[in-house]
Amino acid sequence: MRVDLVLDGHGPLYGQLARALAEAIARGRLRPGERLPSTRELALRLGLSRRTVNAAYERLRSSGRIRGCVGSGSFVEASPPPPRPRPAASAALPAQSAYSRRGRQVCTLHDLPGRPIPGVRYAFQYSLPNVNPRLSSAWQRTLAKVAPYVKPNYPPVAGLAELREAVAEHVARSRGVVCSAEDVFIVHGTQQAIALAARVLVDPGETVVLEEPHYFGARQVLQMHGAEVVGVPVDGDGLRVDRLPAAGAKLIYLTPSHQFPTGAVLSPQRRRRLLDYAARHGGWIVEDDYDGEFRSDASAAPSLQSMDRDGRVLYVGTFTKVMFPALRLAYLIVPPALREDVRAAKWAADFGTGALEQSALAHFIRSGAYDRHLRTAVRTLAERRAALRAGLARIGALEVLDAHAGMHLMAWVRGLAPARQRELLEQARRRGLGLYTVETFYLQPPPRIGLMLGFSALPATDIARALRLLEDALLHVRPPRTRRVAFA
Ligand SMILES: Cc1ncc(COP(=O)(O)O)c(C=O)c1O
Repeated sequence: MRVDLVLDGHGPLYGQLARALAEAIARGRLRPGERLPSTRELALRLGLSRRTVNAAYERLRSSGRIRGCVGSGSFVEASPPPPRPRPAASAALPAQSAYSRRGRQVCTLHDLPGRPIPGVRYAFQYSLPNVNPRLSSAWQRTLAKVAPYVKPNYPPVAGLAELREAVAEHVARSRGVVCSAEDVFIVHGTQQAIALAARVLVDPGETVVLEEPHYFGARQVLQMHGAEVVGVPVDGDGLRVDRLPAAGAKLIYLTPSHQFPTGAVLSPQRRRRLLDYAARHGGWIVEDDYDGEFRSDASAAPSLQSMDRDGRVLYVGTFTKVMFPALRLAYLIVPPALREDVRAAKWAADFGTGALEQSALAHFIRSGAYDRHLRTAVRTLAERRAALRAGLARIGALEVLDAHAGMHLMAWVRGLAPARQRELLEQARRRGLGLYTVETFYLQPPPRIGLMLGFSALPATDIARALRLLEDALLHVRPPRTRRVAFA
């Protein structure tokens, strides 16, 4: 490979190298399928450390620009092959089941906030990991350490005992969750936790409540399951519990500690009223505490589950935020009365979750490496959030919702009609900035343009640059008001 790379001198070296390589890919100087030099070779050529090159490759991998596996090298991601002509009959095939009919309606993936936007330099992408080369190497070492001891037979359906115990202790300590290891199920991501809860608790046609706005992944699972999904509005204190259906709901899915996407925290009074409501109507609550571990402030509310006296709350936590999304490991903690039903549903779904990652994760938690990484992640995210908030405060055209934690912020665009949304995104894209909007999170589209600003993968210097591009795009579509002054 003979490609000149120019490091721009801004921010950490790995970021500079990642940007230079991304630029070379975007301009076609590195072509799809082309092999990148090994990290050792590039480090030598550029006079950088291998760790720096590793981190740059990691960032390109997580944004989908390169692919590769240990030992076989890294390659520029090929552009998708042209679609192969399909037999006409299969294209026209109607959905063969009610499940697929619902899936065709609700499972649209094109507008998700995690999707990469080609050709942009910065993107406020949500749910990307915050690249940490130390985490990658520690995780690789742990996998190698535990691999020889992993039993080759089917793992226990609910998960490896050592991981269930580690999870029970961890959530008791960090989120006040009241449970024993027997209540913990290790599952394939939050998506599977919600799917299992729906299978065990909800018949098609029964009412399920979601926050409005809400987490799109949960809505898709519940609608495909056939639930009658009802949106209940959210304000600055979280779910409007006074607006829950008078006739009750079979299940209420919510994000009480950091409402997705607004960031509101459910107030203590509403928590109590919600638990009373569920008990009164024989309903169930799925508490999605997706980023609860990132709350470092002393005011952080413990989990809703910790207040549950009637055994109506199923608690879901995920490792994909603190570690990385590709891990696909989460946990579902159920009231004892539901254990056997959930075990049967998990058995029917997949016979259990892969033992190698479970074993490595249990080791990672027990050794203290997980807590160490979490502390670093909390610090890094707090710095990035502060940089984003400070920059946003200077952009008068945006109204930022108050959020004290997590990996994203939400902001409304002032004075721009929703019909101009596409133009705003296009102007941002032309300037090299990827923007994401919030209407995907609504059952009824909101009357304003809302932006979802994920910041976990953007260092503070990139945030500052991305905000300048955003301000410029906003100025273009929303020029400052000129005052007409009449003079003789
Ligand atoms: C509200 C919410 N819950 C859960 C998740 C994580 O899902 P999973 O564990 O399936 O990666 C996300 C990630 O985007 C989220 O935003």
